[in-house]
Amino acid sequence: MATKKAPTKKVATVKKSAPEKKACAKKACAVKKPVPAKKAVSGKKVPVGSVKVYHEKDASLDVLKGKTVAVLGYGAQGRAQALCMRDSGVNVIIGVRAGKSFKAAKADGFEVMSVDKAAKKADIIHILLPDEKHNEVYEKQIKKFVAPGKTLCCSHGFAYVFKTIVPPADVDVIMVAPKGPGTEVRRVFEEGFGCPGLVAVFQDATGTALQTALAIAKAEGLTRGGVLECTMEQETYEDLFGEQNVLCGGLVDLMKYGFETLTEAGYPPEMAYFECVHEAKLIVDIIYNKGIAAMNGVISNTAEFGEYYNGPKIITPDVKKRMKESLERIQTGKFAKDWLREAGKGAPTLAKKREQLGKHTVEIVGAEIRKLFERK
Ligand SMILES: NC(=O)c1ccc[n+]([C@@H]2O[C@H](COP(=O)([O-])OP(=O)(O)OC[C@H]3O[C@@H](n4cnc5c(N)ncnc54)[C@H](OP(=O)(O)O)[C@@H]3O)[C@@H](O)[C@H]2O)c1
Repeated sequence: MATKKAPTKKVATVKKSAPEKKACAKKACAVKKPVPAKKAVSGKKVPVGSVKVYHEKDASLDVLKGKTVAVLGYGAQGRAQALCMRDSGVNVIIGVRAGKSFKAAKADGFEVMSVDKAAKKADIIHILLPDEKHNEVYEKQIKKFVAPGKTLCCSHGFAYVFKTIVPPADVDVIMVAPKGPGTEVRRVFEEGFGCPGLVAVFQDATGTALQTALAIAKAEGLTRGGVLECTMEQETYEDLFGEQNVLCGGLVDLMKYGFETLTEAGYPPEMAYFECVHEAKLIVDIIYNKGIAAMNGVISNTAEFGEYYNGPKIITPDVKKRMKESLERIQTGKFAKDWLREAGKGAPTLAKKREQLGKHTVEIVGAEIRKLFERK
């Protein structure tokens, strides 16, 4: 798709007046208390601006002074978050099983030990294991070391919302969730900025749980941009919904259908890959930086007219109906139950789907096309 600047179009931008900016700088951009998940799912629309946003000045690293943070798991999130916290002066230890991650944490210069040893030593137990493993690892290796004064932390509320971890009432339970993959969390931190993020308090036994969450968010660079306060339920349901309906499920199927339609009509797969997969990044990057209207401002008028002309014919209102059904499966815990049952069997469906995807022409062609753009 050709992109060009359409000089006649104006892109609407929301600018804050000087007094508004001052007010925002003075206080966290707080308007109201966050809306609990119950209200958000009752059919009422939650007004824009109802979420509290915290910035650098709202968080203090002093909260973590003299404390040990055990990062359990050294995968995508564990590595990134541990490195950022250490760079911010936090005492971080790593708890992980023997193997690839253990070696990687050692190579990065951390004190690395088994999960139970780290949980025992820690004041803050930050569980960054795969969601489907939380129950087993918590019950066998963490639970016995969870005592009053300690904090349980996570980056996704799945375990607490769906009760695969039921924490004792006398500990703080918090969430610090960077809104980005680990590589991005680390990259942006190293650039001197931070990923946006979410914080939530699930249990506040000490009365200072939010300060702890904000301190961790600050140590990871998240408050440099801003962190939103939410409930664990809001994060869990929205996160699962987004990845299943738009970002992963949704986008991937849309790309595959587009690719298959063109190739089945006899068009070259390499070109179909460009049109239906490769160029998605270019479009999403503009939306990420400036919004949908700005994206429409740089694509051709033909492309923009096509968006309005054909988009609603492809993504019809029944898609939204099915999205609502998906949201219900998430909120009722059906999805979690199905996923945990699948994981409990060793995830055979997941393995089969991965294998099938690997054999799809879109992946085979994609691997070749991407080689052309590798910068050596
Ligand atoms: N990925 C994201 O973009 C993202 C974003 C926000 C939040 N989160 C959340 O962050 C958490 C971690 O996700 P992730 O994507 O970082 O996971 P991940 O990349 O799969 O890493 C999981 C880590 O846990 C270790 N591990 C697995 N099973 C273990 C066991 N039985 N005992 C000890 N260690 C074990 C793995 O070690 P091995 O190398 O030995 O397998 C690995 O170091 C999840 O709650 C997820 O929802 C993820």
